[in-house]
Amino acid sequence: MGASYMPLILGLESSCDETAAALVDSGRRILAHRVAGQEAEHRPYGGVVPEIAARAHVDRLAPIVEGVLADAGVSLADVDAVAATAGPGLIGGVMVGLVTGKALAHAAGKPLIAVNHLEGHALSPRLADPDLQFPYLLLLVSGGHCQLLHVEGVGAYRRLATTIDDAAGEAFDKTAKLLGLGYPGGPAVERVAKDGDPRAVPLPRPLVGSAEPHFSFAGLKSAVARAAASGEHGTADLAASFQQAVVDCLVDRSRIALAACPNATAFVVAGGVAANGAIRAALTDLAARFGKPFVAPPLWLCTDNGAMIAWAGAERFAAGLTDPLDTAARPRWPLDPEAEAVRGAGVKA
Ligand code: KG4
Ligand code: ZN
Repeated sequence: MGASYMPLILGLESSCDETAAALVDSGRRILAHRVAGQEAEHRPYGGVVPEIAARAHVDRLAPIVEGVLADAGVSLADVDAVAATAGPGLIGGVMVGLVTGKALAHAAGKPLIAVNHLEGHALSPRLADPDLQFPYLLLLVSGGHCQLLHVEGVGAYRRLATTIDDAAGEAFDKTAKLLGLGYPGGPAVERVAKDGDPRAVPLPRPLVGSAEPHFSFAGLKSAVARAAASGEHGTADLAASFQQAVVDCLVDRSRIALAACPNATAFVVAGGVAANGAIRAALTDLAARFGKPFVAPPLWLCTDNGAMIAWAGAERFAAGLTDPLDTAARPRWPLDPEAEAVRGAGVKA
């Protein structure tokens, strides 16, 4: 007998400001992936403008899909299923991707898989690391979310903690804006922080030491604003001190969750903020203290992309989970439906 057949999944992502598509098979082979950002369109506004994002997705998604098929040298008929982000996110963009996915699935006569964008982030470490087994403890840190999840299997997520106000990436973006570093904020803060002293500016560590591993970043951002307004500190010191405060919060909160999850096979980080070098280094040390392997996807797989949606699609396809063509786009869609709603949870994923 030959090698077992590896289903091929086309994945589409359009929930925020990246238009992306990828072809991934269930053997973790990434045949092609393309991402088009929208920095130039949103930069004048200092953040993502939903209407501009939706229009940009309309313009770019079809050429990107054609591009990945051409890159991989396959046709739509070779695809076994079409996976598209169906939420949570900016609803205009989500609808563009989901409708495109439905049209392609219908045209090809293949099933649709409606993927939760957060599940894309949550499973992306398994695309990068074939040895990563369930259950694992996941710190999901993105522009719209900051959560600790016990990932027990495909579709089985227990939320241990979330932010009570801003997400970690949101804090980076708002801090970048108030320091005049522009958009997108996270990479800009990290770049400037390299020349600063992380101990120069005294800043709070909200919720550090509290028994439940929840997060809070709104007060930190306000404290940076006050420190900046005082005129006593340079931008590099402000950026470095802010980044250090975020690192300390993430480490302390993850420590509580790790202690509560002795069965976790690994400590895993995913989402756009996981691209931050200082955060990755601190989390690596934390995992070592608990004797757990630390798993972080490569940088390109941390920020929004099509491969993580295709891979989540591959995992769902293998589990026999496909969706009807009348599946609705969802601006809000918690990964753990049992988790209590918290004040101020963002819609951006
Ligand atoms: O996962 P993602 O690409 O999109 C969402 O689903 O939100 O995450 C984007 C977030 C933004 O807030 C961005 O500023 C942040 O990730 N980010 C970073 C870095 N790169 C991206 N934050 C800190 N340091 C970075 N190097
Ligand atoms: Zn995301």
